[in-house]
Amino acid sequence: MFNNPEQAILKSWDTNAKAWTQAVRNREIESRNRVTNLAIVDAILAQDFQSMLDVGCGEGWLIRKIASTRPGAKSVDYMGIDGSEDLIRLAQKADPRHTYLNLTYQQLHLDTLPRKFDLIVCNFSLFGKESVDDLLIKLKNLLTENGRILIQTLHVADETTGWQAGSWQGFSERFTDPAPWYKRNHQAWLQTFEQAGLVVSKHRITQDPSSLQTCSVIFILIASNHSAECVEDWLDAEEARQ
Ligand SMILES: C[S@@+](CC[C@H](N)C(=O)[O-])C[C@H]1O[C@@H](n2cnc3c(N)ncnc32)[C@H](O)[C@@H]1O
Repeated sequence: MFNNPEQAILKSWDTNAKAWTQAVRNREIESRNRVTNLAIVDAILAQDFQSMLDVGCGEGWLIRKIASTRPGAKSVDYMGIDGSEDLIRLAQKADPRHTYLNLTYQQLHLDTLPRKFDLIVCNFSLFGKESVDDLLIKLKNLLTENGRILIQTLHVADETTGWQAGSWQGFSERFTDPAPWYKRNHQAWLQTFEQAGLVVSKHRITQDPSSLQTCSVIFILIASNHSAECVEDWLDAEEARQ
């Protein structure tokens, strides 16, 4: 159905870098304003960390937000990576104090990023199949001891998984060439995590408080050789399976 969907994802973000930056910075995405931005920020601020890697950081709003929310915190080392050169340039320009690298997930290796992080965040940035399967294995190896990975992604309630045609429905007319995406439901994510040697410590499904519509799921992952910890208000992985 798709001729090289992984490449199409990268190309689409290159094409739409400016439109995306405008949409994020002008707060044009209602679900972000109402629910998902706060949800990921709260989840990050509940963690104890000295270094954070934002994977698929886009134009960089999340690092800017977290860094400005914890100005008194001990110096935290923030880094963002993204496959789009334009988005990285815009992120670096908006935040010269931190480091933003133009790297695709396919290019990420221990020698391209020879260091480890306490916290790795992927906020709506995992779209591919093989690129994401491989990325999670690499991210696990970039974690410090007791480090964790936070992923916010679409919550898929139905049974179907597999490549889907993309759409910019609900976005402005500035957006073109939507990328395909690999749809994973909860079970498919759990399998992907297991293959990468990761387990879900906690997860949370976010909801719009007015419409009660489900907006996203946030997973907190740890390396499978570490024991889970407790975060109040979050579903235990065990409860979620019941
Ligand atoms: C929906 S945007 C999210 C950006 C940012 N995390 C945020 O919350 O605004 C998805 C981002 O993932 C990046 N991305 C997707 N697939 C990638 C890949 N294979 N390698 C590097 N970056 C990728 C895109 O370039 C884009 O910036």
